[in-house]
Amino acid sequence: MPALPVAPEARLRLLSVLTCPHCGERLDLADGSVRCAGRHSFDVARQGYVGLLTGNMRAGSADTADMVRARTAFLGAGHYAPLAGALAGAVAPLCPNGGGTLLDAGAGTGYYLAAVLDALPDAVGLGLDASKYALRQAARAHPRAWAATWDVWRPLPVRDGSVDVVLNVFAPRNGGEFHRVLRPGGALVVVTPTARHLAGLRESLGLLAVDADKEDRLRRTLGDRFRAVGAETHEHTVVLSAEDVMNLVLMGPSARHVTADELRARLEGLTLPLPVAVSCLVSVYRAV
Ligand SMILES: C[S@@+](CC[C@H](N)C(=O)[O-])C[C@H]1O[C@@H](n2cnc3c(N)ncnc32)[C@H](O)[C@@H]1O
Ligand SMILES: [Zn+2]
Repeated sequence: MPALPVAPEARLRLLSVLTCPHCGERLDLADGSVRCAGRHSFDVARQGYVGLLTGNMRAGSADTADMVRARTAFLGAGHYAPLAGALAGAVAPLCPNGGGTLLDAGAGTGYYLAAVLDALPDAVGLGLDASKYALRQAARAHPRAWAATWDVWRPLPVRDGSVDVVLNVFAPRNGGEFHRVLRPGGALVVVTPTARHLAGLRESLGLLAVDADKEDRLRRTLGDRFRAVGAETHEHTVVLSAEDVMNLVLMGPSARHVTADELRARLEGLTLPLPVAVSCLVSVYRAV
């Protein structure tokens, strides 16, 4: 996976889809920051992402530095590479000629956005996430990806109808805003865990179960603004070391309920390395 800051041309293309979160005006680059005509100004961090989430706008659900460290290590080991490949395979046919503008809502470290951009030679992608720790990675995930801090439950700082594909991988979904930023007929591609995802591991370690109602809820949140056009279950098995299991648990929602020490103690009861099932649904919707 390349690890480069956004190229100037891709950054300009992505800047043209961003809007000022305060007044909705277009944004321009100026001396290490991004500004609107109304003089609202947002810093571009040393790592390259734009800090659009300013002041007391914080999302409590943002990944912490420790969660991002665990996620970077786990994804870097390639355990979810087949899932990234399946996602890229689902997105590629939605982007004729390998072009288009992608928005990854809850992009995390940019791992999936980078994999999708690798399959689309002329596309650009914007990653939004509430975690600055995640965006430090996302800002360097791919030369055609840029990133900005944002809370996806707020109106997105993105122009109406300016996006061809919204990606949403294990992250919060704001159906109304995804629909607004998509061009008519644009696509939303969502990755959700099935009830089988990591099931054996969760049982052995006493961790949170996947909400089996998730897929129904997903359809309800998207409402009648989206038409389901396809869904494929992706499954593969990963064989995990103790360190992999630690990273897998500490990068996810269970990290908020178990300490690393508790987890290490629970790991004593496991036979390692441990085969674990990865099982996710890759769903494609069209904006109607
Ligand atoms: C389970 S992680 C998935 C990250 C990435 N899509 C991946 O699969 O590697 C969920 C991500 O959503 C982000 N997040 C949580 N609440 C958010 C919010 N309200 N707005 C934006 N991002 C949010 C977290 O910071 C985290 O990066
Ligand atoms: Zn403004």
